[in-house]
Amino acid sequence: MSSSDSDAPDPQALVTQVQEGYAFDGPALELGALMSTADHVHPEAPVRIPLGMLNRHGLVAGATGTGKTKTLQLLAEQLSDAGVPVFAADVKGDLSGLLAAGEPSARVDSRMTALGQEWAPTGYPVELYALGGEGTGVPLRASISSFGPLLLSKVLGLNKTQESSLGLVFHYADKAGLPLLDLSDLQALLRYLTSDEGKAELKGIGGVSTATAGVILRSLVTLETQGADRFFGEPEFEPSDLMTTTEDGRGLISLLELPRLQDRPALFSTFLMWLLADLFHSLPEVGDPEKPSLVFFFDEAHLLFDDASDAFLDQVAQTVRLIRSKGVGIFFVTQSPTDVPDEVLAQLGSRVQHALRAHTPKDAKALKAAVSTYPHSEYDDLGRVLTSLGVGEAVVTVMDERGAPTPVAWTMLRAPQSRMAPADPEAMTALVAASPRQATYGTAIDRESAREKLAARLEQAAEKEEAQPASPAPTQQPEPVPPSQRKIPVPRTTVPSGGDDSGESTLDRVVSSPVFKDAVRTAAREIVRGMFRTGRR
Ligand SMILES: Nc1ncnc2c1ncn2[C@@H]1O[C@H](COP(=O)(O)OP(=O)(O)OP(=O)(O)O)[C@@H](O)[C@H]1O
Ligand SMILES: [Mg+2]
Repeated sequence: MSSSDSDAPDPQALVTQVQEGYAFDGPALELGALMSTADHVHPEAPVRIPLGMLNRHGLVAGATGTGKTKTLQLLAEQLSDAGVPVFAADVKGDLSGLLAAGEPSARVDSRMTALGQEWAPTGYPVELYALGGEGTGVPLRASISSFGPLLLSKVLGLNKTQESSLGLVFHYADKAGLPLLDLSDLQALLRYLTSDEGKAELKGIGGVSTATAGVILRSLVTLETQGADRFFGEPEFEPSDLMTTTEDGRGLISLLELPRLQDRPALFSTFLMWLLADLFHSLPEVGDPEKPSLVFFFDEAHLLFDDASDAFLDQVAQTVRLIRSKGVGIFFVTQSPTDVPDEVLAQLGSRVQHALRAHTPKDAKALKAAVSTYPHSEYDDLGRVLTSLGVGEAVVTVMDERGAPTPVAWTMLRAPQSRMAPADPEAMTALVAASPRQATYGTAIDRESAREKLAARLEQAAEKEEAQPASPAPTQQPEPVPPSQRKIPVPRTTVPSGGDDSGESTLDRVVSSPVFKDAVRTAAREIVRGMFRTGRR
């Protein structure tokens, strides 16, 4: 291709600029080398990301088939070598190749020659997880209470009113000492609250109508029929298990398989978000470390943001902002930078932008938006460069060690040293079977929780022929459980006890009152905080 000469900046000026801009004092990840034109690579001008700036987050974007996943693989390999644990969602299963050494090929050869880099086929330490045990991996589950109302509302596609109602129901469960561990617990609670026996309780929750509770219940049933019940429950995944280095000092790469993603997109993105929120909660503050404590790759990130409520987006933006000081770097991987909301995009220090398409007017608009987010560059027409990038090439800018953006560099990326295709199924099965985590998480447990407690309560009530069960005291603690099963929800939020018991007012009338609106807003905020607390500790 001849990226027309008018676009091509003076190569020597560019080389010098990139050499200076990417010369860091500390260790860095090697992305590749500068290209001044489509057929001129400059190995003397390497393009890199300082290890210490990875907790300033990043974006890997590009149209399908342009090399996003290979970039992710490349970054994961070098992070592991640097002793940094990595988590990545393995959407298409191709990242499992990380566990096997790569095979030499003419294409890898020519790339390495152009970049002047030695290529040593290497396999990396990998742990395989599978959501709910669907697929080849150690099962990963979350309890409902830890998942929280906001994330669950996203999964269920609830509207705002339903979302806040669900929040109030969670709060009620907390207060009543009813552990919500799996989907059946929440279903049992909603059934109870909409039954003759539980009606009075529902009224006491304030602002939750029988109709709304019914809608939530039905959507839970639908979720269950989609097979989602396997993802919720115990033993719950302990996110500190991700923070592992091997005996030889390499960072463990934890890959999460996401089966049938297309059927249940919201479920997977919210699970990743849950992991992040939980990590945030469990990790100590480290300020700005020399290297990150973990790098988290959020693939198919657009799924997280599609149709998300404001409260949800706030939560994501806040998590991204705050998790930095815990040493965690997040890389969002998606097709277009416009998939990521501005508040989040503004917090992403590194950008690896693979080729963008400009077929449709919508593409063209997205392209323009993408170009406008770059710092000033030597390229007269960055849009043109972005649409003409070859596979495994990207336009890069990162945050230098002083926190300033590096020069925009058209980069040829290195080839990963592990296999650029899925690992052998037998190797994957053997890896999972041998994993000590399989012993911890392999088998689901079902301990006494809301479902059993409510059943017992109803039985008692029936015996006494008394429909109204006693209201539990607000300060009541959940019953003690064996220390091995310590993950119990504890009261943690202070939601204003909204609603007055007198009126027959419809929900609409109630929610439109300014006082109620305020109460719900406060409640929502508390619930957001509650999600951070994730009911664990
Ligand atoms: N850095 C690289 N080194 C060598 N080959 C690469 C590199 N990047 C991409 N390729 C080649 O391009 C192909 C597609 O790359 P990749 O799977 O990373 O694309 P993608 O952007 O993740 O696509 P999708 O959106 O479909 O997931 C790879 O299978 C590989 O052959
Ligand atoms: Mg991919």
